[in-house]
Amino acid sequence: MIVTLTANPSVDRTMQLDAPIVRGDVFRATSVGDEAGGKGVNVARAVAHAGVPALAVLPADDDDLLVKGLADAGVLPVNVPTGRPSRVNITVTEPDGTTTKFNDPGHELRAGVLAEVADRLLARSHAGDWVVLSGSLPPGAPVDWYADLTAELKRAGRRVAVDTSGAPLVATVRDRAFLPDLLKPNAEELASLTGDDEAALEADPQTAAAVAARLVADGIGSVLLTLGSAGAALVTADGAWLASPPAIALRSTVGAGDASLAGYLLADLQGLDAPDRLREAVAYGAAAASLPGSTMPREGDLQRAGVTVTPISITGTTPSITGITESTTSGTTIGTASGTSGGTSPGAPAALAGTPTTQRTPPPAAG
Ligand SMILES: Nc1ncnc2c1ncn2[C@@H]1O[C@H](COP(=O)(O)OP(=O)(O)OP(=O)(O)O)[C@@H](O)[C@H]1O
Ligand SMILES: [Mg+2]
Repeated sequence: MIVTLTANPSVDRTMQLDAPIVRGDVFRATSVGDEAGGKGVNVARAVAHAGVPALAVLPADDDDLLVKGLADAGVLPVNVPTGRPSRVNITVTEPDGTTTKFNDPGHELRAGVLAEVADRLLARSHAGDWVVLSGSLPPGAPVDWYADLTAELKRAGRRVAVDTSGAPLVATVRDRAFLPDLLKPNAEELASLTGDDEAALEADPQTAAAVAARLVADGIGSVLLTLGSAGAALVTADGAWLASPPAIALRSTVGAGDASLAGYLLADLQGLDAPDRLREAVAYGAAAASLPGSTMPREGDLQRAGVTVTPISITGTTPSITGITESTTSGTTIGTASGTSGGTSPGAPAALAGTPTTQRTPPPAAG
């Protein structure tokens, strides 16, 4: 079972027009579709597609469209009533494919809802379960709420995966005693944690992996760093790997990161080793990018054989998360080739070397 939290969920409404938008005019949509939205909701939908029980904790009333949408997607909704309807994000698509979005920022939750959500997360998960904290916080929620939840869940023996951005992400890595078991940043989010240059991370996956390795040296269990069309890197205490995606026809990258996280966790539940967990993450992300909107992949959409996984060696990693640099370990060597971990080389530049283990596939379509 995988439990996800979506603290700021939305009903994602898509309207198709048969004429271009003219400001001030009235338009009748030719089709309208509603889908349960939010990052935790996406992860839960992908997990449910794989036939694994998925439980989505979220603030929403019993009769909310979201709750119905989740149940329709095979996800078990665990909703905490809020007394008002969920926000609705509207996407309008014109005949030439242009899409325009109108996002509802959401509203402050009534007192007590956040505490009740935290209680449900604990009550509905078991020791050893993965609990996924992902997406933005609702307006008015304390910026360190995910950090507090991480501490509470870890004290109770849950495994915690975090996929968020900005100040809530930075807060999550501040408490050295209770760091997440898995972090799923993209290059921008990683840069916001370590102070590195986002463009440099995006330009070179090996450099990006070395930066992610610093988070593992800091005490975060594993980092699944997704890099869009360049694939992803996985760094654990035992090693580091890069993976490039299969060739795909790009449709929509919305939710690709959520699909990656779901793929990784599903692989973990199957007991797969790190390279195969990374392969699954990249296969899921690429499949999501080849599907419309935020459609989550199913087994038949995955192209595992097209994913190339390469072990890399990272040495001389110095912990360096902004705000938690007070480290008791001065450095870590993460090496897959030798299978070693531990050892120190404080301050030394990261040294990386890669050997492909599977056949390379053509690069994916740009986008
Ligand atoms: N253009 C693309 N071609 C092939 N695969 C892609 C592409 N974009 C994304 N992917 C796949 O999806 C994964 C996740 O994508 P990305 O790094 O963009 O996530 P993200 O920035 O967290 O996205 P989001 O938060 O919007 O869901 C990548 O690791 C890769 O496997
Ligand atoms: Mg993301």
